[in-house]
Amino acid sequence: MSKTANVAVVGATGAVGETMLAILAERRFPIGKLHVLASERSAGGTVEFRGDDLIVQDLATFDPTGVDIALFSAGGSVSKEYAPKFAAAGAVVIDNSSAFRYDDDVPLVVSEVNPEQVKHRPRGIIANPNCSTMQMLVALAPLHRKAGITRINVATYQSVSGAGRSALEELGRQTGALLNFQDPQPKRFPVQIAFNLIPHIDDFLDNGYTKEEMKLVWETRKILGDDSIQVNPTAVRVPVFYGHSEAVNVETKQKLSVAEVKALLETAPGVEVVDEPRAGGYPTPVTHASGTDPVYVGRIREDFSHPNAINLWIVSDNIRKGAALNAVQIAELVVSET
Ligand code: A2P
Repeated sequence: MSKTANVAVVGATGAVGETMLAILAERRFPIGKLHVLASERSAGGTVEFRGDDLIVQDLATFDPTGVDIALFSAGGSVSKEYAPKFAAAGAVVIDNSSAFRYDDDVPLVVSEVNPEQVKHRPRGIIANPNCSTMQMLVALAPLHRKAGITRINVATYQSVSGAGRSALEELGRQTGALLNFQDPQPKRFPVQIAFNLIPHIDDFLDNGYTKEEMKLVWETRKILGDDSIQVNPTAVRVPVFYGHSEAVNVETKQKLSVAEVKALLETAPGVEVVDEPRAGGYPTPVTHASGTDPVYVGRIREDFSHPNAINLWIVSDNIRKGAALNAVQIAELVVSET
């Protein structure tokens, strides 16, 4: 591939798509032509890129010939239908949906963890992991390499932006309604999200877990390349606009001290340690993550109930590192191939 790439952003009007455009601009991605695509509903409207208004095109009638890299974030059914068409036309597809993540011939890549997998893409499709798995593994991969993770207990506190623009609007609308003594009228979420917590993200599966929870199990094993790792997940939606948080307990083969964990994380790519035992000496979605790139780790403690386990609090912007940023980082790996 040449050193500039013709890029298509599919889902460019969405919460992730607009951040993909912002990050492509911020990182000065070497773009030849840029196509911004969405559904027929938005076609003819505009999105902003480097101060210019770009006209949104209808994905259904777009000819992908000449596209080198296509960043998809328009949902699983759109990816299933259109990603193979873009790949057949010669594009490398970087897909943010779960449509292809568990296929053996589609690499699932966190840029700091398994970048070498980008090259193994026989179908021309690379999958971007789920936001919760993404931030967790940026922090846990260095511990796994050092001490061998055997089991992860994780509870997530996931912001509404992970469910798209309509979910952001619903949290804002319900908050306003409730403060004015009006009915919150849930639409996007099954129950009220403002001033509430919902232990249900994505569909329920036969085993009683949600698909969002099982993504943490399946994707951790695939990305770390170790099917023996046990993961016990609970995924919860919280009334936060941007930034997912995770309370993580990690069991390892070899014991790690707090000092060793801090030393590993302080040099880990993409990680920032914020860990002082005082008021505010820990990361939160609002004070640290929202609008920024790192995966923040704090509250690092030895689990005093277990001989070889560590507790961590991991926070990151789910739309940036959890989705758009990692997709662009994968695109950078692709474009740097000779
Ligand atoms: P549109 O604005 O035309 O609906 P979010 O996750 O924030 O809701 O964003 C979803 C993105 O996926 C939007 O850009 C949306 O475009 C796009 N999208 C949804 N359905 C389709 C479709 N059938 N074809 C193309 N783009 C779609």
